[in-house]
Amino acid sequence: MLLEVPSPLILVGFMGSGKSTVGRALAQRLGWHFADLDDRIEAAAGRAIREIFRERGEADFRELERRELLQLLGESRSRHTVLALGGGTFAQPQNYEPIRCSGGCTIFLEVPLEELLVRCARMENRPLFRDEASFRALYEYRLGFYRQAAVTVEAGGAEPGAISERVLEQVRRWRPSLRPA
Ligand code: S3P
Repeated sequence: MLLEVPSPLILVGFMGSGKSTVGRALAQRLGWHFADLDDRIEAAAGRAIREIFRERGEADFRELERRELLQLLGESRSRHTVLALGGGTFAQPQNYEPIRCSGGCTIFLEVPLEELLVRCARMENRPLFRDEASFRALYEYRLGFYRQAAVTVEAGGAEPGAISERVLEQVRRWRPSLRPA
């Protein structure tokens, strides 16, 4: 039986977990539209995320993030969409209601912390990656939020194509009624 894939597919997880890369591969595999929340925020603000953090602070960034999230969720009603959130978007409980109302399926890309550390140490555009200790603490704090996603996919040590297949396998089996309260 061909099981339908819910839309939007919403990828959540810590910075460096591959939300954008896997999201692109997934959208290509399905022939769906791909949207990246960080890209939308940068386009709307006309500056890089690290500059938004530096000039306006995190609270302003979260407001901008929420505004663009609502916009993208609205747009996803008219076309099948894979949506990659930022690492902190799903750790803001005020974002849960609009995400739930979108009728989509949230997917936590779970990558071991040690692998995330290696990946993020090579990246310079992550304003919240200050040092290893605060990175670990933030990860521990956010894990409980990410675990509220409808499905969890192991996303460490594999190619984006293989991870997208795992995502598809799981979301095809997922039904909204199975979502934890
Ligand atoms: C953030 C993660 C970033 C970006 C911003 C804040 C976070 O997205 O939204 O720097 O709070 O973890 P990525 O997860 O794509 O790096």
